[in-house]
Amino acid sequence: MNPFLIQIPFFPEQASNFAFEVDLFYLFLFALTGFFTVLIGAAAVYFLIKYRRRSPSEVPEQIEGHLKLEIAWTVIPFVISMFIFAWGAKLYYQMYTPPTDALEIFITGKQWMWRAQHPDGQREINELHVPLGRRVKLTMTSEDVIHSYYIPAFRTKTDVVPGRYTTSWFTPIKTGTYHLFCAEYCGTQHSGMIGKVIVMEPPDYQAWLRNVPRDKSPAEAGAQLFTSQACDKCHLEGGAGRGPSLQNLFGKDVNLANGATVKVDETYLRESILNPGAKVVAGYANDMPTFQGLMTEEQVAMIIQYIKSIGPKQGEAGPTTSPASAAPAPAAQGVGRPAPPQAAKPAAPQGEQQR
Ligand code: CUA
Repeated sequence: MNPFLIQIPFFPEQASNFAFEVDLFYLFLFALTGFFTVLIGAAAVYFLIKYRRRSPSEVPEQIEGHLKLEIAWTVIPFVISMFIFAWGAKLYYQMYTPPTDALEIFITGKQWMWRAQHPDGQREINELHVPLGRRVKLTMTSEDVIHSYYIPAFRTKTDVVPGRYTTSWFTPIKTGTYHLFCAEYCGTQHSGMIGKVIVMEPPDYQAWLRNVPRDKSPAEAGAQLFTSQACDKCHLEGGAGRGPSLQNLFGKDVNLANGATVKVDETYLRESILNPGAKVVAGYANDMPTFQGLMTEEQVAMIIQYIKSIGPKQGEAGPTTSPASAAPAPAAQGVGRPAPPQAAKPAAPQGEQQR
């Protein structure tokens, strides 16, 4: 917990690891701006009076310049602005570098709702349940236009963009219920694209997870899609197929047909599913069909989760260790579709705070 937690009036609660420092930075800028506003204003008034014209024939003394003064008013603002830059850059870097051991939750924005899927497949709409004190990483995309995932109490706001993944992370430090807003104008019901973030004690979060009707985990659903979309016909284990093997691939560097190298991450995998010709792996023909328009963003994300699950870096929350053998699951109906909203309604969290 942060020992320096101070609650500033008119500010949202400080409910994440970032909140205190963001507020401190903001207050510093505010105080600095206030100080110079007063200083310049007072100096202007003082000089106005002191150097006022006293007679119509008065001719002012010519001043050629003052080197020390000019150096001072160049160097001091430079040092101050570099301090602001360094502090801001450090904070930005922290906020946009998610830790690798975080609990990974997948978010999809859509006019006009927020969908979330937890590592084991639990889904919810316009709500996000997270455990207290655990690092949480959000991997986000949009099905239509740009949205922005904004949790004022966490001081985090990240654009959610169609066609790419953006990430956000935080550690909740205070249980309670907090506002979730869409902070990017996205159409007529933008203002209604709101929700709740519920921070729970870890045992309560586990209990909540057990109570939500569990869908297949993203990796399990991805394994099914991998078969139903016939990906497995070409991407054979061992690389003997028409496409490269996807076994142990995630996080590695691969050589491309054009001589370049690319690191296999979510963005590369997504591009290769939707635009397979963009970065063809060396030694393979460009003959994979595109899945653009044939799969939803969530389904693409599921396939990626599956590929990650058969990669060397095993997800810490352990969705599935052997997705191929997991989840016999009833037919393919509704793979990749969100659970109906009423099914995602969780039990009321303990200690819900009204704000
Ligand atoms: Cu979504 Cu504004």
